Amino acid sequence: MTGNEIREKYLKFFEERGHQILPSASLIPHNDPSILWTAAGMVPFKPYFTGKATPENLRVTTCQKCLRTPDIEEVGKTARHHTFFEMLGNFSFGDYFKEKAIPWAWEFVTSVLALPKEKLWVTIYMDDDEAFDIWHKEVGVPKDRIVRMGKDTNYWEIGVGPCGPCSEIYIDLGEERGCGSKDCAVGCDCDRYLEIWNLVFIQFYRDEEGNYSPLENKGIDTGMGLERVASVMQKVKTNFDTDLLREIMDYAGSLLKVKYGEDDEKDLALKVITDHTRAITFAIGDGALPSNEGRGYVIRRLLRRAVRFGRVLSMQDTFLHKVSAAVIKQMASAYPDLEAKQEHILQVIRTEEERFLETLAQGTEIIAKLTAEAKAAGNTVIAGADAFKLYDTYGFPLELTKEIAEENGLSVDEEGFTKALEKQRQRARSARQETEYLSERGVMYKALREELGVTRFTGYSLLEGKANIMAILKDGLQELSAEAGEEIELILDVTPFYAESGGQVSDHGHIVGEDFKVEIYAVSKPLDDFIVHHGKVIAGKVRRHQTVDVEVEGSRRQDVARNHSATHLVHKVLQEVLGDHVNQAGSLVEPDRLRFDFTHFAAPSPEELKRIEELVNNMILANLPVEAFETTLSKAKSMGAAALFGEKYGSNVRVVKMGDFSLELCGGTHVNSTAEIGLFKLVSESSIGAGTRRIEAVTGRGVLQYLEAKEEQISQIAKAVKATPSEVVKRVKGLQQSVKDLESELESLRSQLSRQEVASILGQAREIKGIKVLAAVVSAKDMDGLRSMADLLRDKLVSGIVVLGADNAGKVSLVAAATKDIVKQGVHAGKVIKEVAQVVGGGGGGRPDMAQAGGKDASKLQEAMDKAYAVIEGQLQ
Ligand code: ALA
Repeated sequence: MTGNEIREKYLKFFEERGHQILPSASLIPHNDPSILWTAAGMVPFKPYFTGKATPENLRVTTCQKCLRTPDIEEVGKTARHHTFFEMLGNFSFGDYFKEKAIPWAWEFVTSVLALPKEKLWVTIYMDDDEAFDIWHKEVGVPKDRIVRMGKDTNYWEIGVGPCGPCSEIYIDLGEERGCGSKDCAVGCDCDRYLEIWNLVFIQFYRDEEGNYSPLENKGIDTGMGLERVASVMQKVKTNFDTDLLREIMDYAGSLLKVKYGEDDEKDLALKVITDHTRAITFAIGDGALPSNEGRGYVIRRLLRRAVRFGRVLSMQDTFLHKVSAAVIKQMASAYPDLEAKQEHILQVIRTEEERFLETLAQGTEIIAKLTAEAKAAGNTVIAGADAFKLYDTYGFPLELTKEIAEENGLSVDEEGFTKALEKQRQRARSARQETEYLSERGVMYKALREELGVTRFTGYSLLEGKANIMAILKDGLQELSAEAGEEIELILDVTPFYAESGGQVSDHGHIVGEDFKVEIYAVSKPLDDFIVHHGKVIAGKVRRHQTVDVEVEGSRRQDVARNHSATHLVHKVLQEVLGDHVNQAGSLVEPDRLRFDFTHFAAPSPEELKRIEELVNNMILANLPVEAFETTLSKAKSMGAAALFGEKYGSNVRVVKMGDFSLELCGGTHVNSTAEIGLFKLVSESSIGAGTRRIEAVTGRGVLQYLEAKEEQISQIAKAVKATPSEVVKRVKGLQQSVKDLESELESLRSQLSRQEVASILGQAREIKGIKVLAAVVSAKDMDGLRSMADLLRDKLVSGIVVLGADNAGKVSLVAAATKDIVKQGVHAGKVIKEVAQVVGGGGGGRPDMAQAGGKDASKLQEAMDKAYAVIEGQLQ
């Protein structure tokens, strides 16, 4: 049976049972902001299930184009994963329910497809006895072939809208296709048991907040993966070997000069290229375009991934648009509009490919430069930071950098690369979460939340609990498992871990399974109700869908809570002490300190600061009870709760109340009563810009550490001044006095010395043409000292000119000073100094009576002084 035949038989089977055949809807969901792509057959029918719109017919059947990205890493690795695939489905909008859906599914599978009953398995939702009875009593499936499963596999929902428990049909493809594990059974991740059909019993409506309410009319939504069924019918090993995909893949192989089936690595590349090209071809056909966000980013990512896999097969040129043409040729009979849009699709792909190749080329040039530099320097390694830059700014995967480096006989410092990556992650972690997640990550997390649902946060009352691993991410991509040493992100269904927000840092702790342990060092909340645990596997191997123990590090949480609660007290106290104009401008709550920024125009006086500290401590000692509750924003405001200007709050807000003293909107974690804060100590107050001040403080154990540090400081000072701590002040005062005494003694010795020097220098004066001229090398500590010495000597000469030179650590200073009377006789100090300075390699000048200059060559100072006599003699001619 070809893919086309299966498609036709399915639609016809349900048409015969009263269903209207509808064409596939667009991959871009219509009027549904809760999801990025049409990822299931029921997506276009959400309004029919809820009664918001009325269908022409209560029974519908379709073959729907679907796109899903969470399993992107699995594509090509398993036999059955895709990004783009076709889903066959039959739907009932308040018409029939389980009693028909189940027997029809069985009839189609066993009669039309003629699959052997003894190889079929069925799963049902835990307590769905109704489904069990239909499967067993009416259809005749043996009891031991019906497996009850949990919400993670047997409850179906997508974004906002209709959802419900489900029942799946599996086929056992034989032991030889299995993973060999003794636990391998229906639901195992390996290729043995293949899920071919999912029957969803639509009964509930899930709203934006994740609340479920029963639907008035129950409905049916089923989904059968066409490619999977084709692989079963055609008895081939993977979906890629079916007639739906094989031709496209073979064509890609011919372009890339690779024969499918000879090398696993190459086969993987061909499969990824085939899958991704189908996805972008259909998505662009439905009107999406590559860009840096939303759907556009998904297309860009898929295309780039395909290009990279092309390069693994040594393809340097654009080629995807050609594969896309093959996709269109293959799919046009079922989707005729592809042909009409062919030109546009190919053009978009080709342009985007060219762009990416340019980016790669830029990166390649940089690598060439780096390799040349490394070689020239006799290095055989490309620095990790450089490899990281290529990765970060040019989208250059490490593997590619390594490859090119290897071609040049070099290696890459991978450890350095990992470090740089980690550093950047830390930067991102500390950056405010809004900016961190706006871009590519945001798209991915959004898709994940759609797929997995929201994370339930239990951390206000609990520090530990059980949870299921919903997803494992490595470098932003989903993985099935991770090994010791790897840095990962974990998504759980429920968690007590507090994610960094509202100024409060995230919890630390551990996620522990039976045979593995992950250390969690950061927790973020990229989207509302979606918590991401960032950590490192420190032992064992972590796998998706495992049940784990989640443990938050309690002492850290408690330290943070103390500081957070103290922050609320500070806020209120500041208003009391400084005035109502004080508003919070920012805050940072960490385990070992708190920082609070607020609006205020002057520096608080020492008395005010003392008062602030005292009042906060009074509120701590008063042991006020701390309570948190939810209410509406308007109620909270009318109660007088402090809310941050410009902060977004949902319709329901959380309020934290401390006795009758403080009331604030806050999502953070707090102590149970203020006494738990222990003690509050201000450690600094400063200005951080016009009208904004910053307070830093410590509480609880932080105060103890602060005191210990102070004590240590005092004991060091005591040791340095050779006194006991209690005598330090007296001892230091005594030392200060003796320093003072010594300084004045030194000063008097200095002036005695310089008086003697002046006398000896004066003795060097000569008389030229009846005028006293003195040019001498002296010692002076700077230009000021030199000038005052010149002044002094000039006064002593009464009538005459003084030229002095000094050498301060190789820097030459020159000064000339003449009395007024000789200036009248033609002596010009400025001109003298100019010529003299030239001798020592400098320059300068000045007035006729006073001038100064600098120079470089101290060894010529004496020569310069000799020159001074000559120049002055010349001036007197
Ligand atoms: N909507 C269901 C699914 O996608 C049938 O599995």
